[in-house]
Parts: sequence; C-alpha cells; structure tokens
Amino acid sequence: MDERDLDPDPIVALTAWIDEASRALEQPYAMTLATATPDGRPSARVVLLRSIDPRGLDFFTSRTSRKGVELGTNPRAALVFHWWQLGRQVRVEGPVEELDAAESEAYWRTRPRASQIAAWASQQSEPLQGRDELDDAYDRLEARFEGAEVPLPPFWGGYRVVPERIEFWTHRDNRLHDRIRYERAGSGWRRERLAP
Ligand SMILES: Cc1cc2nc3c(=O)[nH]c(=O)nc-3n(C[C@H](O)[C@H](O)[C@H](O)COP(=O)(O)O)c2cc1C
Repeated sequence: MDERDLDPDPIVALTAWIDEASRALEQPYAMTLATATPDGRPSARVVLLRSIDPRGLDFFTSRTSRKGVELGTNPRAALVFHWWQLGRQVRVEGPVEELDAAESEAYWRTRPRASQIAAWASQQSEPLQGRDELDDAYDRLEARFEGAEVPLPPFWGGYRVVPERIEFWTHRDNRLHDRIRYERAGSGWRRERLAP
C-alpha cells in the first residue's frame, strides 16, 4: 500500500474500503467495538456499522447494555474492522456521542418489525432465567403492539464514534505489512507510516 493509494481524508478512504469490501464479501459491516469502564477495564463485542460520514461512524444498541453503560460513564471507544479475504484491517479511535432521538427514530423505522419487538423484549446484557423468559417476553410484546407501529424504546438508540485516529493496515508477505495512521491535526489530518 502506497500513501498515494489512500485519500488524504481517512473517512473518504475508509468509505472506499467499505465499498470494496461490500462488493467482495457477504457482511463487511461487522466491527469490533471496544469500550471500557472509567477505571480502565475493557470489554469488546461485534456490532454493525449503520452509517459513516464526515461526522463519524454510527451503530445502534441498547443504552442499558454493558456497552451502553460503559459509554455512559466513559464515552470513548475503539473500533476494528477486519476483512480477511482482502488482507485489510482498519482501527478507529475517538470520543463517542449519543445520537439524538430523531436520528435514532429515523434508523428505528427502517428495522424489520421482528427486530423492533426483539429490542423491546431483550433487556440486553441482563441475566435470564432461561430461553423461555425471552420468548415469552417477545410473545407478550408482539400482542401488545399488534396493529400498531412499534415505538422507539426509551432505552435504545444510536452512538457515533467521532474518529480522532484511523489506521489502515494491509497484509504483505513476510509480515512486512503496511500501516498508515491518520490523526486529527487542526481542521485536517496528519498521516504517518508505522512499523508493522
Ligand atoms: C455480526 C454481529 C453483529 C452484531 N451487531 C450488533 C449491533 O449492531 N448492535 C448490538 O447491540 N449488538 C450486536 N451484536 C451483538 C453484540 O456482539 C453483543 O452480544 C451485544 O450487543 C451485547 O453486548 P454487551 O453486553 O457488551 O453490551 C452483534 C453480534 C454479531 C456477531
């Protein structure tokens, strides 16, 4: 990978990589999201990228989930995309903002009805007595919302990771991989090559 192969704006470069991945792969939007408690205990899980633009990278989840609680008290995150077949990895780091109700609602409306009911039924990250508890909750909620739109739950919404660092990695033979890291500098970006 040559610096000239990557757009000077890393959001443009990342969008191009995601577009290429979406043509080559079944599911290019899965990204590992790392959060941490205020005293620095990390946790990580996979979520789906729902949009990317100059403001940042958006995903949706429950605000009362483990990740939601961690972001509520320590609003910073790291993301990792890995596309094995393309030999590419991208790392993103930065502060996290909650999307407002209007933005969360706009995305909520695009979700399949079953996913909407499932979001209501799941107190994400809380222990369950068993599978039945979840299935029963789903059935109750399906009956409750019958014939009506499923409203946006007050405990569910979007988050935006606002990148202050983005690193592009490509596989090269003999472990001599390429790494190009962008960091915010004023209103633009500075980039440098890192040892693999
Ligand atoms: C491919 C994939 C995509 C996922 N996408 C999401 C997502 O967009 N939002 C979400 O809340 N959980 C998603 N999950 C589930 C999370 O990985 C995780 O189990 C859940 O959010 C609870 O995490 P937490 O307890 O750390 O908050 C996804 C899992 C996989 C494997």
